[in-house]
Amino acid sequence: MTAPCAVPVSFVDEGLGNSSYLVDLGDRRAMVVDPSRHPGIYLEEAGRRGLEIVFALETHLHADFVSGARELGALGAQLLVPGDGGHAFPVRGLSDGDDIDLGGLTLRPVRTPGHTPEHLAYLLLDGRTPVALFSGGSLLVDSVARTDLIDTEQSEALARMLWRSLRERILTLPDELPVYPTHGTGSFCAAAVGGERTTTVGRERRANPLLAAPDEDAFVKRLLAGLGTYPPYFLRLREVNRRGPLLYGPGEAALPAVRPDDVRRLLAAGTWLVDVRPVDAYARGHVPGSVSIALRPQFPSWLGWVVPFGTPVVFVLDGSTDIPELIRQSRNIGYDQVLGVLAGGVDGWALAGYDLETTAIHSVDEAAGAVLDVRQRAEYDAGHIPDAGHIELGNLVHGDHPPTPVSLMCGHGERAMTAASLLARSGKRDVTVLVGGPEDWARRHGPLVTAG
Ligand SMILES: [Fe+2]
Repeated sequence: MTAPCAVPVSFVDEGLGNSSYLVDLGDRRAMVVDPSRHPGIYLEEAGRRGLEIVFALETHLHADFVSGARELGALGAQLLVPGDGGHAFPVRGLSDGDDIDLGGLTLRPVRTPGHTPEHLAYLLLDGRTPVALFSGGSLLVDSVARTDLIDTEQSEALARMLWRSLRERILTLPDELPVYPTHGTGSFCAAAVGGERTTTVGRERRANPLLAAPDEDAFVKRLLAGLGTYPPYFLRLREVNRRGPLLYGPGEAALPAVRPDDVRRLLAAGTWLVDVRPVDAYARGHVPGSVSIALRPQFPSWLGWVVPFGTPVVFVLDGSTDIPELIRQSRNIGYDQVLGVLAGGVDGWALAGYDLETTAIHSVDEAAGAVLDVRQRAEYDAGHIPDAGHIELGNLVHGDHPPTPVSLMCGHGERAMTAASLLARSGKRDVTVLVGGPEDWARRHGPLVTAG
C-alpha cells in the first residue's frame, strides 16, 4: 500500500489560462481535476508515477474549453461532476456534502454557485483535516471567476450567489488551506487575475481586491464593472460539455493535405482558410481571403473569436508549424471541423497558378498617420500611443471597421495581422501592420497615454 500525496501535480494551459491537477490518492490510484481534452498528458504523468487514473472531476460545465473528463472516462475513470449540470452521458452527479471515500483521503463537494449555477468546489480531507481545495471557478488568485457567461441577464444574480458562496463556504475554511483554482492568468473566465497559479485561503482573505469589498452590493458592483469581453465560442461550449464531446482517444492526430483546387472549392462553399504561420511569413505572401492567426499560446482564443463556431477550417502552415500543437489547440475549444492543410502551403498555391497577396508591415517605431490599436480595452487603457484609436479585435470581427488608410497595432503584431486579414477579406487593403507594441514605441518616443 502506498500513501496518498495531497500536493497535486499542476498542468497549466498558458494560452487559455487554465490549470488542471493530478492527485496521487495512494494505492497507485489518481484523480484528475478539470482535465483538458487531451488525456495523453495525464496518462503520461500517471504512468511515470505508476498510477492509474480512477476519477476525473469537473467543477463546472466549462465555457472556455472542452472538458477531457469524458476522454478519461472512456479509459476507465469514474466521472464525478456537479449533479445539477444535466450531463447527457453517464456520470456520477454529486451534490453538496456527498462525501466520497477515496481510500485514505475524502473528497467533499462544496456547492459554490456563482461563476455558473451548478458549480462545485472540491475539498480534499485527510481524516477531518482539509488539505486542499479545488476551487474551480469560484475563488481565484487575486480574483474570482466572472459571472456573465450564462447570459448577461443573470450576471448580477450569479454575482450575488458568488459572494455568498465565497463568504459562507470558502472563507470559512482555514487560512493555511492550499487553493488550486482552474482559471488563472490569461483566462477570459476570470475577472482579472494575478500571476500566481495557486494560493491559500488566508492569502486571498488578506489580499484579494474583490474580497476586500465591504458588502455584497460593493462586491457585485466591482465585479461586474471589471468584466471585459470574451470570445463568442464561450456561449457554445457549455452545451458541448453537457452533451458530451466527441472522443478522440490519446493517440496523435494527423491532418490530411488538401489540394489547392479543392481548397478553392471549399472556400467558395464557406470553409475558412486560417494561416497559422508567423506574421512576417503571412505578410510576404498569403492566399487571398485567408485569415492570419499565428500559432502561439493565444491561438485558440483568437480562432474561437474570429472563425464562427462549427465552420469547417483548412489551415495554411509551413515546415516549422507544430502540427500536433495546432490540432490540440483547435480541439481544446471544440473546433472539430478541421478538414486539413493546404497541400504545399503557399508555395503549392502559387505552383498551382493562383495569386498570392502581401500585407505591408513596419516597425511600430515608424508609426505614422492614423493608428488603430486592436488590443483589449483594459490593455489599451493601461497604456497606448498618443492619438491611437481603439477597436478591440473581437469587435472588428463583427464589422466595426475603421476608415482606411490605417496602421494597425497590438502588443507584438499578431492580433494586428489578424485584423488586417479580416479587413482585406472585406476589401479594405490600404492597411499597414505595425510590428512591436506600445512599450517598443515608448522606448523611442516617450510616455504612453493611460485612461480611466
Ligand atoms: Fe469556468
